[in-house]
Amino acid sequence: ALDRAVRPKTLEEYIGQPVAREQMEIFLAAAKGREEPLDHTLIFGPPGLGKTTLASIIANEMGVSLKTTSGPVLEKAGDIAALMTNLEPGDVLFIDEIHRLSPFVEEILYPAMEDYQLDIMIGEGPAARSIKLDLPPFTLVGATTRAGLLTSPLRDRFGIVQRLEFYAVDDLAVIVARSARILGIPMDEAGAKEIARRSRGTPRIANRLLRRVRDYAEVKGDGTVDLDIADRALDLLSVDAKGFDHLDRRLLLAMIEKFDGGPVGVDSLAAALSEERGTIEDVLEPFLIQQGYMIRTPRGRMVTRLAYQHFGVPMPSDGRPTG
Ligand code: ADE
Repeated sequence: ALDRAVRPKTLEEYIGQPVAREQMEIFLAAAKGREEPLDHTLIFGPPGLGKTTLASIIANEMGVSLKTTSGPVLEKAGDIAALMTNLEPGDVLFIDEIHRLSPFVEEILYPAMEDYQLDIMIGEGPAARSIKLDLPPFTLVGATTRAGLLTSPLRDRFGIVQRLEFYAVDDLAVIVARSARILGIPMDEAGAKEIARRSRGTPRIANRLLRRVRDYAEVKGDGTVDLDIADRALDLLSVDAKGFDHLDRRLLLAMIEKFDGGPVGVDSLAAALSEERGTIEDVLEPFLIQQGYMIRTPRGRMVTRLAYQHFGVPMPSDGRPTG
């Protein structure tokens, strides 16, 4: 809710994501030099890594307004048409969850992205007519958790594609220290590092944990966040030493205890956890795979040796297919 206070507004303030940052610095400078809008940009990556933040930085760096919407709220062709006809030249239209656009809305986007042309049907039946409108040049910024969720005609219309990665602990520690400074939270370096280590490589989680650790520091200590306070607060929040939360642990333990370590299909896992398949695919497993605790095989998900070690469960060693 108070995320806005700590969100960076310029690329200069943006920490981490070295590849995306360096590329965007160049593409933004070039577009500005030519006095053109930035090419349409697709940003993908797990939740909380800064896709919305990057969209607002793009608008800010280009000196234009940001109009924000999301795939699921655009139901009819008219919904997107209304938004696009209200754009000023150069504006950024940000569509979050762009993989969830209806096919009708997606069809409207193609000529809008390619030729700044709005091509819509008005009326129904024999009275139906197609009308064409010129749109101002604009930049569409789309965000999604996985690029593979987009149809290929839509994906092909983005000139710039940025994949956001989980943040390195050192980068997250800088983000946590910066947020603490902005929020006026006294904190030492070890406290920042501990929160960073246990935030699943994700700034949104780091900023949320920072606020809860502050609560703990104010009630149980003198208000200063140090290593000991951070450690105790995060234990209380059931965030373990690797940054796994309750749901991460349920997933890994279900694979170990109910499916003999796998391979197991994602739908079976979703049923065993009473969670949605999309939560496993988009929220849980990207980090667990990146950290080496599970893998995806053609026959399903499997946990690795690290997962058994994490829970102190012996690996089944014999009589078990090795995949
Ligand atoms: N807050 C959230 N993400 C950030 C980032 N990449 N850099 C600085 N502050 C942030």
